[in-house]
Amino acid sequence: MKINGTPYRSIWRDDAGEVKVIDQRWLPHELRIVPLRSRADFAAAIRDMWVRGAPLIGATAAWGMAMEMARDPSDAALESCHAELNATRPTAINLSWALDRMRAALAPLPTVARAEVAARLAEEICNEDVEINRRIGTHGAQIIRDIAARTGRANILTHCNAGWLATVDWGTATSPIYHAHDAGIPVHVFVDETRPRNQGAQLTAWELGSHGISHDLIVDNAGGHLMQRGEVDMVIVGTDRTTAGGDVCNKIGTYLKALAAHANGVPFYVALPSPTIDWRLKDGLRDIPIEERSPEEVTHVQGRDPGGRVVNVRITPETTGARNPAFDVTPAALVTGLLTERGLCPATEAGLAGMFPDRALQ
Ligand code: MRU
Repeated sequence: MKINGTPYRSIWRDDAGEVKVIDQRWLPHELRIVPLRSRADFAAAIRDMWVRGAPLIGATAAWGMAMEMARDPSDAALESCHAELNATRPTAINLSWALDRMRAALAPLPTVARAEVAARLAEEICNEDVEINRRIGTHGAQIIRDIAARTGRANILTHCNAGWLATVDWGTATSPIYHAHDAGIPVHVFVDETRPRNQGAQLTAWELGSHGISHDLIVDNAGGHLMQRGEVDMVIVGTDRTTAGGDVCNKIGTYLKALAAHANGVPFYVALPSPTIDWRLKDGLRDIPIEERSPEEVTHVQGRDPGGRVVNVRITPETTGARNPAFDVTPAALVTGLLTERGLCPATEAGLAGMFPDRALQ
């Protein structure tokens, strides 16, 4: 996607061979591009959310392993790098998907061959992500086109940031929106602010604004009200892990939006790249590990002060404790459809297996 007319991906290797990312902690106030050099840099970038979003976490881990192989291609480094990066964030399956894929390709190779193959594979994982998301966009744009044909303008609610910043490019939930907008279909987006870290307010709003897409920021509690009043035509969100049965784990608060959508007859779609499917799991509520992050993300908020500095301020009494589960699980029964790179399927075991017969058998 473009920033001020210049095309960007969220992660890339530059001509000097350095891996660069947009440090998302400073958006929308500052565009900071940083190199990731050591294995510790990659681990910190994922854990401390310089980069975030399930597909981008996977792509970053792949590049982290590639850089480690350039430094030390031994079996010991391969294993310890896999373990260190895999421990950074527990919920998004894309992290272990990418690391397992790298290790499976590299482990059988002689050590002298590993660095080159690792870099090629990391690049391939990134390019595949872009293509998957582009396809999700073309399938999803059709749904938006149909809505707009009926209503004049498709009013879409989204939660968190499942945009191009959460992937290598296009985004998952936002890709249909970008494709529809670029095809001249009238769209308007309601952006959930997405406490505690405000990915909607800080990242999705910035992305949509940069692309010229009509949008309004809403507080997380406003979605149900807008749905009751008929102001939302569809909800579309991303996912960090979806079970073989179609249960969807995504940013905390997604479940409440699904409940409100169900109660009000609003279609609730999940944009699902196939690497985000955990084929081993059936019961999302029981089996998906939910990351608990620092209470400080709840007791504090970040913003820009009148002097232009980005600051973090406390909003609670000093002694108030906080819980910070970062994800929740929306049961498959609340999901209207899963929008994959191969098209739309029901959020059921049969629906996913029918869409991915090749992978469901693995
Ligand atoms: O904690 P985050 O910001 O990494 O959470 C991101 C989300 O929940 C996204 O919706 C999800 O990763 C899908 S991104 C295409």
